[in-house]
Amino acid sequence: MSDMHNLLNKAYETNDLTKVEIMYLLENITHEDRAVLYSYALKTKKAYYGDKVYLRGLIEFSNFCRQDCLYCGIRASNVNVERYRLTPEEILDCCDQGYKLGYRTFVLQSGEDLWYTDEILVALIQEIRKRYPEVAITLSIGERRAETYQSLFASGADRFLMRHETASKELYERLHPTMRFEDRRACLSALKAIGYQVGAGFMVGLPGQTPADLAEDLRYLKNLRPDMIGIGPFIPHSQTPLGTEKGGTLDDTLVMVALARLLIPDSLIPSTTALGTLHPQGRELALRAGANVVMPIITPTSVRKQYALYENKICGDDQPEDCRYCIERRIQSAGFEADLGRGDSYRSSSLED
Ligand code: 5AD
Repeated sequence: MSDMHNLLNKAYETNDLTKVEIMYLLENITHEDRAVLYSYALKTKKAYYGDKVYLRGLIEFSNFCRQDCLYCGIRASNVNVERYRLTPEEILDCCDQGYKLGYRTFVLQSGEDLWYTDEILVALIQEIRKRYPEVAITLSIGERRAETYQSLFASGADRFLMRHETASKELYERLHPTMRFEDRRACLSALKAIGYQVGAGFMVGLPGQTPADLAEDLRYLKNLRPDMIGIGPFIPHSQTPLGTEKGGTLDDTLVMVALARLLIPDSLIPSTTALGTLHPQGRELALRAGANVVMPIITPTSVRKQYALYENKICGDDQPEDCRYCIERRIQSAGFEADLGRGDSYRSSSLED
């Protein structure tokens, strides 16, 4: 057997690869090897989660952001963005609509917008919890104080998504002039310690990102053991300093999704909107390469296009119900079954048993 086949087998059998092995794999993988990798990742996904793909309703509730990440379309210094903020009442209306469409997980995502104070967020979460005792409430609102995370958890939030973006300190600091590498990691650790189900993750194809950096991303995740892992291609946005850079590719992103499935086999891995933007079948391909979550957008159509982290984002003109059924068809066409339940991670649901 070739070195590559040995490595792919090792990843499948042991769910572990060293940094050097991951780098070798990333540097030498061929088209045929990728097919083998994806089939191992798919088998592993099936062993933990069967044919289920979990749906989460995504509410992008504000595009105001105090940070200035070089890659992001809604960075603070992009003056071309028409900023919007949904009121708590409008967010609750989205939840009502999402609930009627069958969603039992809501993801509340925004730029880092301090207009939403602890008090406002606590009241909002309590109200969602009161209306829908059984839903999972996921926050994706960026860096806040540990005390804030604590009170949001106490008021009923279950999960928190915060990508680590890249495990390379040097690259992180180049891309995030207003943020610190250590703060990001401290937030993730704090969220975990509080008891949230945590989602981390990274972008693929960032300018200057090396195979060593990507190997480090996977090693970092393996140590952190998050419940969820979001991986998407970097897609340049023309109104940012990285507007003329090359973006991440479909193949490179799928390889990272598949490796994440093999190395952290019990995690929830979304097939990201960014992959759907890169390729018409991008999300289906990710489901065939180990992903098992999709996050259809339920943001009101009137503001959707303004939440442009990258350009040409799909579903901009769709209504929430369009996304709901489009995604379900895509899941079925890829050979899986849409599941609207809470979709807890294998680990957290087996701990509760
Ligand atoms: N291309 C791809 N993904 C992006 N994100 C932000 N900007 C871009 C971009 N230009 C990702 C970041 C962030 C998540 C919400 O979106 O990883 O954490």
